[in-house]
Amino acid sequence: MIRKAVLPVAGFGTRCLPASKAIPKEMITIVDRPVIQYVVQEAVAAGIRDIVLVTHGTKTAIENHFDKHFELEAGLEAKGKTELLEELRSIVPADVNIISVRQPEPLGLGHAVLCARPVIGDNEPFAVLLPDVLVDDDGLSRNDLAGMIAAFESSGRSQIMVEEVPAELVYKYGIVAPKGAAPAPGSSGELEGLVEKPAVEEAPSNLSVIGRYLLPGSIFPMLAETPPGAGNEIQLTDAIERLRREQGVNAYRMQGKTYDCGHQLGYLEAILAYGRRHPRYGRGFIELVKRYAAED
Ligand code: G1P
Repeated sequence: MIRKAVLPVAGFGTRCLPASKAIPKEMITIVDRPVIQYVVQEAVAAGIRDIVLVTHGTKTAIENHFDKHFELEAGLEAKGKTELLEELRSIVPADVNIISVRQPEPLGLGHAVLCARPVIGDNEPFAVLLPDVLVDDDGLSRNDLAGMIAAFESSGRSQIMVEEVPAELVYKYGIVAPKGAAPAPGSSGELEGLVEKPAVEEAPSNLSVIGRYLLPGSIFPMLAETPPGAGNEIQLTDAIERLRREQGVNAYRMQGKTYDCGHQLGYLEAILAYGRRHPRYGRGFIELVKRYAAED
């Protein structure tokens, strides 16, 4: 069972400036809730119960969002606003724990994950979710993270979630080399390599790492020994490549759709996708979009 997940949220979000100047980029609103809340919901829906935020002192709004706000709740209760109260209380279900640790220096994603070592330990598998990317499970019977956990449980092998990207965009992502044919959507297959942000002509495929990983606790000692790589940062991808050589790693090809909220057009698209099916605002939102499209 995978019950713990690490969410690295310490980065300053320079790609989202000026929106992310005084609020964390993870707190940017998609329709009616911050990006990070969707990612926590995705993890919880897949059975995760302990969420470890690896964060920074300037980003306490994230911890506050998942904390109980006693005065606000008491005020809503006194006014009889029960629906809103329930909505607030459901942000973190009663059996889910939000834990936070700090990343003292911005030394890279691999280093951020390593900061969670004292909470996770070296003997338990865990998930990593990068909260820039929303993984939409609309129309699926279970979300892709749950599908990937099922693949982990049946094979015992570490998993990395991947999707196809246009060949000219491979330089932005971790890129995997599948052993043989690429796995079909919703299934998992062995890897023979992975590389962080390769040049277009050196990429082994167009299957990109989208920021969802299932890893064994034994990745921690590997991360501790990983030297700086691409961008002079300690790369999670480099430690996973060592893990692959020593123990084997699979790629799980996702079925849903991703929205990269780490840049403006990505979160505008997420607003379109989530807004049009929102139970309260969907109809009105579709009408607005039609009106603006007709004016264009
Ligand atoms: C990180 C990972 C990369 C992955 C990407 C997904 O890169 O290092 O392998 O493909 O997230 O968003 P970043 O976007 O932090 O540069």
